[in-house]
Amino acid sequence: MEELVSLCKRRGFIYQTNELYGGMQGVYDYGPLGVELKNNLKQAWWSSMVYERDDVEGLDSSILTHPNVLKYSGHEDTFTDPLVDCKDCKSRWRADHIDEGKCPSCGSENLTDPRPFNLMFKTTIGPVDDGSSFAYLRPETAQQIFTNFKNVVDSTSRTLPFGIAQIGKAFRNEITPRNFIFRVREFEQMELEFFVEPGSDDEWHTKWIEERINWWEKQGINKSKLKILEVDKEELSHYSKKTVDIMYKFPHGLEELEGIANRTDFDIGSHTKNQNDYEIKSDVIRNEDSVTKLAFQNKISNSWIIPYVIEPSAGVDRGFLAILNEAYKIEKLENGKERTVLSLKSHLSPIKAAVIPLKRNNQNLVDKAMNLKNLLQSIGLGRVLLDNAGNIGKSYRRHDEIGTPMCITIDFETLDDNSVTIRDRDSMEQNRIKLVEVPDFFKKSLKN
Ligand code: GAP
Repeated sequence: MEELVSLCKRRGFIYQTNELYGGMQGVYDYGPLGVELKNNLKQAWWSSMVYERDDVEGLDSSILTHPNVLKYSGHEDTFTDPLVDCKDCKSRWRADHIDEGKCPSCGSENLTDPRPFNLMFKTTIGPVDDGSSFAYLRPETAQQIFTNFKNVVDSTSRTLPFGIAQIGKAFRNEITPRNFIFRVREFEQMELEFFVEPGSDDEWHTKWIEERINWWEKQGINKSKLKILEVDKEELSHYSKKTVDIMYKFPHGLEELEGIANRTDFDIGSHTKNQNDYEIKSDVIRNEDSVTKLAFQNKISNSWIIPYVIEPSAGVDRGFLAILNEAYKIEKLENGKERTVLSLKSHLSPIKAAVIPLKRNNQNLVDKAMNLKNLLQSIGLGRVLLDNAGNIGKSYRRHDEIGTPMCITIDFETLDDNSVTIRDRDSMEQNRIKLVEVPDFFKKSLKN
C-alpha cells in the first residue's frame, strides 16, 4: 500500500486534503491525473449502465437531504456503529475494533459499554443555527433515487423492469477511516436502483451479480482477486432480503468493493403516501409525511404494486484503489534496471498519448508535435499531452509510471519524411509509422 500511496502523491493522483493545515483524517483530493482516471472510471460505469442498456435512466440529485427522507429510510434509527470509549486515554473505537477488551491505543481495560453512534453528517439550513432547520449530507446516493421515482416514471413513461442510475458524493462520519482511500468520510458511489416486479427479484439479483463481476473484469480487475460473499442474515442492512458483496483482495486484505442488495419493497414502500392501500411486505415505518403515491400501475392488470429494488452499489474510490493496485507493477529490465509501470486499460488511462519532441528547443520539432497533439486531442478520446521535457528516456519512464498507453516521438527524421516513432507502454516496442496514419492507429489501439 505504501508504494501506491507514494506513487499517488508523487505523480499527482491523490493528495491528503488540506495538508498545509495538518490535513483532515479520511478526506482526500484527487490531483491532475487522479481526476482523469476517476472520471474515466465513472464514465465507463455510466456507459455500461445507461448508454449500453435500454432500461436505465440517469439522475443527478442533491446532496443536501430532507431529514424525513432519512427518517423513513431508517437511517436516523439504524445507520449507526457501536462505539466504545476508553475512560483512561479518552480515545473512541468501533466495538468490532476492540481486541480482548483492551483499548487499542493505551491497552487499558477501563472501557465503556458499546453505544450507538449515528454516522450521518448534519448541516444547518438558512441563517439561524438553532438546530430546528437542518439537512443531512446524504450517506448514500440511493435515497434521492427513490424520492425521484415518480418524477422519472412520469417523465419517461418507463414500465417495469427499469432502473435509475446515479453517481455522486456520499458522506459518512466513519469513526476509524483507514487504509488510504478505502474507508473515508467523503466518497463517491455509483449506484443503480433497478425496479422489478415482486417475484422476479431473485432472478434479477442473480443477473446483476454476474453483470457486475464482468464489468469489474473489463476494468482490468483479475477475476482471481474477486470473491463473492453472501452477507450473513444477522449482518444484513435493515432493508435487505439478501446482499452479495463483491470482495477484492486490496493491499490490506480481502474487503468489499461493491454490494448488490435485494432491497425488496422497503424503499418505495417507506416513502409512499397511503401505505395501507398496498401490500407492502417489508417492515416499514408508518409514513404520515409523504405527499406522493409511489406505487406503480401494472398496465395489463391495472393493479397497483410497490416494486422491488435490486441495487448494485459500487464505491468509486474503492474501485480506483483496486484498479491502481491491479495495474501497478515493477518490472525487471534486460539491462538489470527496473521500471514501474501502470498497465491500466487504455479507456481508464489519465493520458491517452504523449507526443514528445526529441529536442525541447527545436521550434520545428515542437510545432510538429503540437500540431499532432491538437489533431489527436480533437478526436475526443481523452487527454493527449505535449511532453516537452527534452529527455526522451525520462519521459518514457514517467509515462510508464502513470499508465500512458503510447508515446509518440517527433524527431529529425519526422521533419524529413513525416514518420514518427510509436512506443508501446506494455511491450516497450517501438514502431515507425507515417504521421498521417497516427490518428487511425491511435483510435484502433485505444479500443483494445
Ligand atoms: N446504497 C447502499 C449502500 O450505500 P454500502 O455497502 O454502505 O451500501 C456501497 O455502500 C459501496 O460504497 C461500498 O461497497 C463501498 O464501495 C462504498 N463505500 C461505503 N462506505 C465507504 C467509505 N466510508 N469509504 C469509501 N467507500 C465506501
